[in-house]
Amino acid sequence: MNEHPIFKTSQLEFADAEPCNPTANPTMGEIISARFSRRGFLKGSLAVSAIAATVSPLALMQAQEARAEEGGSAFSFTEIEAGVDETHHVAEGYDADILLRWGDAVLPNAPEFDPANQTAEAQAMQFGYNNDYVGFIPLDGSSTHGLLVVNHEYTNPHLMFPGLVTLAEGEMTLEPLGKEQVDVEMMAHGGTIVEIEKVDGKWRVVPDGQYNRRITAMTEMEITGPAAGHDRLKTTADPAGTKVLGTLNDCAGGVTPWGTYVMAEENFHGYFGGELPADHKEAANYERYGVPEGSYEWANFHDRFDVSKEPNEPNRFGYIVEVDPMDPTSVPKKRTALGRFKHEGAESIVNNDGRVVFYLGDDERFDYVYKFVTTGTYNPDDRAANMDLLDDGTLYVAKFAEDGSMEWMPLVHGEGPLTAENGFESQADISIETRRAADLLGATKMDRPEDIQPNGTNGKVYVMLTNNTRRTAEQVDMANPRAENAFGHIIEIAETDGNFAATTGTWEVLLQCGDPSVAEVGATFSTDTTVNGWFGMPDNCAVDSEGRLWVSTDGNSPSATGRTDGLWAVDTEGAARATSKLFFRVPVGAEMCGPVFTPDSETLFLAVQHPADGGDDWEGFGRVSYYEDLSTRWPDFDENLPVRPSVVVVTKQGGGKIAV
Ligand code: FEO
Ligand code: CA
Ligand code: CA
Ligand code: CA
Repeated sequence: MNEHPIFKTSQLEFADAEPCNPTANPTMGEIISARFSRRGFLKGSLAVSAIAATVSPLALMQAQEARAEEGGSAFSFTEIEAGVDETHHVAEGYDADILLRWGDAVLPNAPEFDPANQTAEAQAMQFGYNNDYVGFIPLDGSSTHGLLVVNHEYTNPHLMFPGLVTLAEGEMTLEPLGKEQVDVEMMAHGGTIVEIEKVDGKWRVVPDGQYNRRITAMTEMEITGPAAGHDRLKTTADPAGTKVLGTLNDCAGGVTPWGTYVMAEENFHGYFGGELPADHKEAANYERYGVPEGSYEWANFHDRFDVSKEPNEPNRFGYIVEVDPMDPTSVPKKRTALGRFKHEGAESIVNNDGRVVFYLGDDERFDYVYKFVTTGTYNPDDRAANMDLLDDGTLYVAKFAEDGSMEWMPLVHGEGPLTAENGFESQADISIETRRAADLLGATKMDRPEDIQPNGTNGKVYVMLTNNTRRTAEQVDMANPRAENAFGHIIEIAETDGNFAATTGTWEVLLQCGDPSVAEVGATFSTDTTVNGWFGMPDNCAVDSEGRLWVSTDGNSPSATGRTDGLWAVDTEGAARATSKLFFRVPVGAEMCGPVFTPDSETLFLAVQHPADGGDDWEGFGRVSYYEDLSTRWPDFDENLPVRPSVVVVTKQGGGKIAV
């Protein structure tokens, strides 16, 4: 979900720099060198003293020479210019085509998109709102034919529905939603599974694909694993505590080695309203998760979202959901063994011993990094044998030590403080109150863990930490090294002996994000990074078939960083380490989600989420953006159509691997 932290440092200090041709942008090293020589005698200047403390021109020169000798970046493309406007941009020599838009038909007989008269019934057959995670599941091993799986994280009623917004002194107020609108929202959540194919070099949706499916906030799901059937999950509608309707706020996710689609339920607290009695036995539990937060109006029409009526319902959200996309009638499963928190994603890797390791972030300020190791092993020859691997395994939470070592601490009932004495009667309680269990183990409080990506090529794991402006100077530690961390950072983990199931490892900060030319920011992009190449707020990420890291962002904006969100290619190896280049950028108001490559790396799928949600701080618009007055009508630019979150497909003109 998009957040709008307050930025205290001006990121526009170089706004007076000459606009540069992308092919000839000065590197940050050149800018810092020039600045140093220009202002080197102004003793006492904060900027100069801080820069001088960070890097000397001689060291810069030596580093740049070393990089030149080693061939520089592993990515071969011409960087685009960072900036802000109403459309998307991709590197020269690539096509970025719109593949799927909010309201496009997914199921046969889906009605034509009619935004002014949208119904829940129509929405249930059409592509949902705010595409976030995107996964590609090849059919018959193909990189040109497969299933696209897409999460629909949340809804923006002010951009979706006409007639809701009134403005008073530039502030937006919304009329309350009616039941049909709430039901449209519920159908616009969840996920989409759709068959796609590449024909004559262009990707298209297979209109009546036999696997095509919509998953919504009303889809019946089964609860499995340690918490299934527990009293704390029982409701009026489900006295057995094993069935739940729908999934909420699915942010990032993953595709398992056995070809299932996993969805990560993130900010589920926002959907619940009402009030829990102060002495209710779930009160402390819900407080730790911020339930009920009540930003949605669903509780007005659906009792299960009112905690005063159904106090156990929130215990049925906040899980990893596994879907078998090969059977459109399959019942999705909420896998409680992977814990309950504000799950960001669930990227996985098969370990050397066949066990499968899932990396999990809990996206909240000061929450934790987790991983789950299956007890069973992956069987590549028997898909059915893998289908319940996620019900049995060990969940660990990370403790990052100051000396660069780390420990994965098991969240196992009966071990350490995780006993009845502390309110954990069984593993079910740990599955439900995972955060409190991790608190008791002394896990390291992180700066909003987002997507976490294991890299099978180099054995490393990349952790996106998006920002945390509330960290005070006293709360700084080596793994979260900046107070008021507005721009986030990326941690690189090396598991002991390359064993992804290991309980120990080492770590270092790969990158502190933000504008490296503003010394107070403390960004650590390599000096080869250009004025376009730096970014703030890493969120999603992907590793391509060449083992290279790509990072997408959530929170860049004209006022925060002088640029929109986008997709950056980030070097991790050799002298080019921490060099970043801008490959794609989104329209105003959007965030960039879902980078995923086909196995052959010839196609890249990207999700443009919440375009036009913003623009008041952009000189090209400069006011509140809403349905009737949008900062962009991307991607159709048709005055009869609203802005539409969409999936974009990127290919190289003439074919070939991306950025190779
Ligand atoms: Fe939905 Fe943590 O981003
Ligand atoms: Ca996000
Ligand atoms: Ca995210
Ligand atoms: Ca990812």
